[in-house]
Parts: sequence; structure tokens; C-alpha cells
Amino acid sequence: MSQPRRTETIVRQRYAAGAKERADKLCCPVDYQTEHLEIIPQEVIDRDYGCGDPSRYVREGETVLDLGSGTGKICFIAAQIVGAKGKVIGVDMTDEMLEVARRNAPIVAERIGCSNVEFRKGRIQDLALDLELLDRQLKRNPITDAASFLAADELAEELRVKQPLVATDTIDVVVSNCVLNLVEPKSKRELFDEIFRVLKKGGRAVISDIVSDEEVPEEMQSDPELWSGCISGALTEEGFLHAFEAAGFYGIHILKRDVEPWRTVQGIEFRSVTVEAFKGKQGECFERNQAVIYRGPFKEVLDDDNHRMERGKRYAVCDKTYNLYKKAPYQQFFEFVDPIVDVPLAEAKPFDCSRTSLRHSKETKGRDYDVTTEANNKCCDGGSCC
Ligand SMILES: C[S@@+](CC[C@H](N)C(=O)[O-])C[C@H]1O[C@@H](n2cnc3c(N)ncnc32)[C@H](O)[C@@H]1O
Repeated sequence: MSQPRRTETIVRQRYAAGAKERADKLCCPVDYQTEHLEIIPQEVIDRDYGCGDPSRYVREGETVLDLGSGTGKICFIAAQIVGAKGKVIGVDMTDEMLEVARRNAPIVAERIGCSNVEFRKGRIQDLALDLELLDRQLKRNPITDAASFLAADELAEELRVKQPLVATDTIDVVVSNCVLNLVEPKSKRELFDEIFRVLKKGGRAVISDIVSDEEVPEEMQSDPELWSGCISGALTEEGFLHAFEAAGFYGIHILKRDVEPWRTVQGIEFRSVTVEAFKGKQGECFERNQAVIYRGPFKEVLDDDNHRMERGKRYAVCDKTYNLYKKAPYQQFFEFVDPIVDVPLAEAKPFDCSRTSLRHSKETKGRDYDVTTEANNKCCDGGSCC
């Protein structure tokens, strides 16, 4: 009896065929911004197996990593947005996909006037291992017995450390379009950890993928056709967001969720979502006498560091949280209160972030503050107060 093939092998074979000839069953209609499609060769557009458009959220000058880049469409769109000051790296494990993407890269470069895209071969759950580098080394030292197998394992580990496919803390934004669901369940945790690893502090992930509204039952998970068709490996909507949280991201939110399912199988709805998540909440906490006020509209909120805040109240926060709240995606929800006397970071004492406590106005102003002033003419939008 033949051994069941690994899910990953089935995925690779299906997308190898999809690179050669358009596979309609793998296509989920997406509205890309048409002005970015004009310069992309038709061969690439025809082999579009995405389910969303994370490239909309990329900005000029950024270094972008596209996971499961396929024939390169998202990379070629992102290349136009990031421009000559930015850079785009596509990673895919399927040779046939890489071949189409690499063949079209110089055509796109000529049309946009800069060469800022490259495609690398790797598995997205192991972004440190450069499979082409490993391939070259194994050609010189092929695996012929158990000893050479173990040596190859050591070699792979050495390459991960010394010549990583994607180095740690180097990427501004990781994007992906309809790929994460294709990674085997046992590697999903590793996959989210890898996305986190390669991002710079302050970087973000913008991922479009297919998610389900119920857990996918075992029998559907073992169906190779459904698996490689972006169905069986889908995380639930809740599980998808939780996977970012478990990897250490913060500010995780849904940018787009299709109301209509892409497919419904045995009553389970599969739809496309695009999620954004940020890296950068890790690090030491220092007391600089700052405070924040949650503006509402909800009665209270809970952030990814378990700070629970009620609308309208002043809370003490560490310098790190204060600065995180000043940026996307939080800044619109908070008012910021600086202390009257600045506490320089170099002199700041450690702050205990495990508790959330209110901060009395006297703490930010200073206990002895007893100033009395005339009405501030700037306070009423140019009009006269009272
Ligand atoms: C559904 S297609 C999406 C392609 C592309 N993102 C697009 O928008 O057209 C999935 C792609 O991910 C690649 N892929 C699947 N699993 C992968 C893995 N574990 N590591 C690297 N690439 C993978 C496949 O080779 C294929 O090119």
C-alpha cells in the first residue's frame, strides 16, 4: 500500500500545475487597483490565486516580504507602491511559480523604471532556510546514508544561522495572499512565529487569507483536493486572530471581511479576510509620569498587554505603552497627558506593567501645582468661551 503523501507535497504539485496553466478552481475574484495591474504581464495576472489585496496597505519606501508569492502579482503591485527607495521580496516553495515570477521580474522592472523585487525559494514556516543554497550544498555532498542525512540536517541548521533566507528584524511589512491556510496544522505556530521574527520592531503583518466560520472537521482536513484548494487548512475567524496574538503581535484587527462566503462546504462558510497586526510591544517598561484617557465609544477596552481601561478615566502607563498608543492602530482612541515636568528616559524608574492603575491629575501636574490663570483664548476653536 502506498504511503499517504504529505499535505505539503500535494500543495506543491497542485500549484506547480497552476503555474503552468490557469486553474479556475483555485481562483477567488479580487478587486485589485487597476492602475497597478497595467504594467504586469498577462501571464502573471492569469495565474492569480489570491483571495484579497494586502498590497493596498503597503507604503512608499517600505521593505515588503510576500509569503507564497506565486507568480508575483502582489510583489509587482507592491514594487510600484514602495518605489525605488523600497524593496520587495517574494518567497515561494514551488519551482514552477518561482520560474514564472523570476522570468517576469525584469519586464516589470523595465516598465516601472527600477529593479526592486526579488524572489527567493523557501518554506514560509521556515523563513531562515534558503532552499536553493541548501540544494547547491547537497549537490556537492549528496545524502546517501544515515550519516549524510544527519550531516545535511546540521548543514541546514548552520545555513539558517549564518546565511538566513530572511534575516531577523529586517522587514517593515509582511504580506501574504491566500497562502497561510495551505501550511500544515503542525507548522502553523512556527509560521506565525517566523512572521514575527523577520519583522522589524514597529513593523506589521497584513495578511489576506481564507477563514472558516466553524472548525473544519477531520474528514475534510484529510481531503487533499479540499486542502490544496484553500479550504481544509483554513483557521477559524477567531483562530486566525488568536494565532497573531499567540505569536506576540498587538493591535490585531480586521481590515476587510467578505460578507459573502467564497465557498460553502457541508454548511461551513469559507470567506476571505484581511487582517493587520503589529510587532513591538515587547521590551522594558519605564515610569515617565504619563497618562492616557480612553476616548470611547465603548465603555471599556482591553489591550494585548491586559491593560483594561474605562472610557474617560486617566490611566498610568509606561513610556512604551504611551508611545504605542500614539501610533496606529490606537492613536485615534486615546487622549495623551504629558507630565508638566518631563522625566528623561535615562532617569526613569521601572514601571510595573502587570497592573493597570488610575493616575490622578496631580501626578502629571505635580503635587505642589497650584497655578491660577486667565481664560485661554486658544481653547474654544477661535470662538469666545463662556
Ligand atoms: C493560493 S497560491 C497564492 C499565490 C499568490 N499569493 C497569489 O496571490 O496569486 C499559494 C502559493 O503559495 C505557495 N505555498 C504554499 N505553501 C507554501 C509554503 N509552505 N511555503 C512557501 N510557499 C508556499 C504555493 O507554491 C503557491 O504559489
